[in-house]
Amino acid sequence: MSILVTGGAGYIGSHTVVQLLEEGHEVVVLDNLCNGSREALHRVETIFGKAVGFIEGDVRDRALLDRLFAGHAIEAVIHFAGLKAVGESVEQPLAYYDANVHGSLVLCQAMAAAGVYKLVFSSSATVYGPDAPVPYMETMPRGSTSNPYGSSKAMVEQLLTDLCRADARWSVALLRYFNPIGAHPSGQIGEDPQGIPNNLMPFIAQVAVGRRPELAIFGDDYPTEDGTCVRDYLHVMDLADGHVASLASLEESGVHIYNLGTGQGVSVLEMVTTFERVSGQRVPYRIDPRREGDLAAFWADASKAERELGWRAERGLEAMLRDTWHWQRNNPAGYQQS
Ligand code: NAD
Ligand code: WQD
Repeated sequence: MSILVTGGAGYIGSHTVVQLLEEGHEVVVLDNLCNGSREALHRVETIFGKAVGFIEGDVRDRALLDRLFAGHAIEAVIHFAGLKAVGESVEQPLAYYDANVHGSLVLCQAMAAAGVYKLVFSSSATVYGPDAPVPYMETMPRGSTSNPYGSSKAMVEQLLTDLCRADARWSVALLRYFNPIGAHPSGQIGEDPQGIPNNLMPFIAQVAVGRRPELAIFGDDYPTEDGTCVRDYLHVMDLADGHVASLASLEESGVHIYNLGTGQGVSVLEMVTTFERVSGQRVPYRIDPRREGDLAAFWADASKAERELGWRAERGLEAMLRDTWHWQRNNPAGYQQS
C-alpha cells in the first residue's frame, strides 16, 4: 500500500515507518518538525537502506495537502501528527485544539477531496476517562476528560465516528495506545523529548545516563501493591506492528476501535528496579506528592486486537527497558549530538 504518515518524524511515527517499510509498503512522511527530527528519518533510512519520502509541512495546510495527494497515489493515511503534552495542553488549549482537532479536520477534508477514505488515527487510553473499571475494553463508552489533550483525542474520535456514519466510503481505525516505551533494537532511533521529560520512561533513562540527578516518583500512597501508580507499558515496536496490522481492518468500512497494550500493569517502582537490573545503572529517586490528574492504575484488555487483527504485544518489559537503555546510552543527548 502507498501510505501517508503524518507525524512520521516523531517517536511512534518513526518506528512505525520502519515496520511499514519492512512489510513492503510505500511511505511518504509529512511532518512540520515541531517535535520531530529529520535525523530520525535519516536513521530510518540507514536501518532500512532506502530513502524515505519526506515533506516538511503542516497537516493544517490544506493547499499543501492537496498538492501532496495530487502528486502521490496515497491509499491510506496514518495520522500521528499532533501535540501530546498533557500539562502544556492545560496552559495552551487553543494550540492543542488547533493542532489536534483542526489538524485532523483539514486532513479529512483533503482526503475526501482526493478520494482517500482509509485512515488510522492515534488515539489514547485517556479517552476512557477516570471512572472506567480496569481492564479497559473497547465496548466501554468514552469517559470524561480532564485536560485539553485528552478532550482533543475524544473530539477527533467523535468527528471520525460521525464521518463514518455519514459516508460508507470511510474506514477508520481508532488505535487507543496505552503507555508506549522502548526503542528500535538497533539503538538508532528512540524517544527524544525536548526539555524536561513529562513521561516516566525518558525521565528514568535520562537519570541513568547522568543528564538528571534523580527521579521524582509522584506518590507512593496509591491503593496499589507498592503504593505507586500502575500502567500498561508496551514496546514501541509492538505498537508499530499494531499499526501495520490495523491496515487490514480498513478493508471494511466504518469505525474500528482497538486497544493497543499488553494487558499487564506495572508499577513505577517495578519500572525503576527492573530498569536498574537490566541496565546495570543506578536510578536514584525520591518520593514526591501525587501529580494532579494521575489515575492509580489502568491497563488494557487487548484481546480484541488479537482476535480481529492477529496482533499481540510480543516484547516483554525487560526488552522494553533494554532497548530504551541501548538507545539512551548510544545517544545521551538524543538526536542533537549528530
Ligand atoms: P511525537 O511528538 O514524537 O510525534 C508527533 C509528530 O507530529 C512530531 O514529529 C511533530 O513534529 C509532528 N507534528 C505535530 N504537529 C504537527 C502538525 N500540525 N503538522 C505536521 N506535523 C506535526 O509524539 P508521539 O509520542 O510519537 O505520538 C504520536 C501520536 O500518538 C500523537 O498524536 C500522540 O498524541 C499519540 N499518542 C501518544 C502517546 C504516547 O505516550 N507517546 C500515547 C497515546 C497517543
Ligand atoms: C506514568 C507513571 C506518573 C513521570 C501520559 C498521558 C497519556 C498518554 C501517555 C498520550 C505515572 C509516574 C511520571 C515522573 C513519575 N499520552 N511518573 N515521575 O501519565 O500514564 O500517561 O502519557 O496519549 O495521555 O497522560 O504516563 O509516563 O507520564 O506516567 O512518578 O517523572 O509514572 O505519576 O504514575 P501517563 P507517564
